[in-house]
Amino acid sequence: ATIQWFPGHMSKARRQVQENLKYVDIVFELVDARLPISSRNPMLGKIIGDKPRLMILNKKDLADEKLSIEWQNYFRQEGLNSLLIDSKEQATVKKVTAAAKNVLADKIARDKERGIQERAIRVMVIGIPNVGKSTLLNRLAGKKAAQVGNRPGVTKGQQWIRSNKDLEILDTPGILWPKFEDQLVGLKLALTGAIKDDLIPKDEITIYGLEYFMTNYPNEVIKRYKLTDADMELSAVDLIIYLTKKLGFKDDYDRFYDLFIKDVRDGKLGKFTLDRVIDFESEDEEVE
Ligand code: G4P
Repeated sequence: ATIQWFPGHMSKARRQVQENLKYVDIVFELVDARLPISSRNPMLGKIIGDKPRLMILNKKDLADEKLSIEWQNYFRQEGLNSLLIDSKEQATVKKVTAAAKNVLADKIARDKERGIQERAIRVMVIGIPNVGKSTLLNRLAGKKAAQVGNRPGVTKGQQWIRSNKDLEILDTPGILWPKFEDQLVGLKLALTGAIKDDLIPKDEITIYGLEYFMTNYPNEVIKRYKLTDADMELSAVDLIIYLTKKLGFKDDYDRFYDLFIKDVRDGKLGKFTLDRVIDFESEDEEVE
């Protein structure tokens, strides 16, 4: 269920995250690997301050493998540890635990030196809706996961889930809002299904998406819709008109929009990533 965000919701979400922050050692910032920037919350840095952070690029099974590597390099250069996962995989638990220990390695070593007994790392998962927070929590909880009871001060009703001897997770993830004031970000979120379909007109989503795939993954478009190289010279709008006819939908363009959007989400057009490092590097330089 996608949340409609209003200023009241935003400040409440922010407050909830900040209240729980003091009980955790590390924040897992969960994003969709297909949208490593567009599925981030713009305020996260401000909200969590200097709390240690692990960025988790989830849904790696759906993302462009080459770009995922580029994104990990990008975040490394930004000084951010990142991890690429598929929350549906069993191996995720070990990977996430090892990465969390790695981020906190200095603190763990310091505690040990001071004779402080080592305890499980406490984690809060934070992200915008639909990035896979519940799926990851369920994966980390596993079948045998035991709740370890309420701790004083933690928002009522919240529980710690023990993932293994090294990791305890707050069972309620922090849900923050996406950067929906940016039109292009909205199109990207809509195409991947991260925001409700009725927030952005389907024709706009389809034109954006088809253009993107024609430019970046032309062979997938050719294969899926049995096209020729010459068809790729058409504009996205002309290709929509052509394909709607070709598929026997007459002039029912909505039918084509629905088909295309579903094809993208179902991976029928292959693995893809909508944020490209090259489009963000230049922005950074301007800021510096
Ligand atoms: P949220 O709590 O952050 O809102 O996200 P949630 O876990 O509900 O996940 C949103 C959708 O993303 C779900 O699909 C979920 O199965 C899918 N998902 C989560 N992690 C991964 C992943 O690593 N890989 C893939 N391929 N999908 C992932 P859904 O369509 O809502 O439900 P369903 O497909 O599970 O039926």
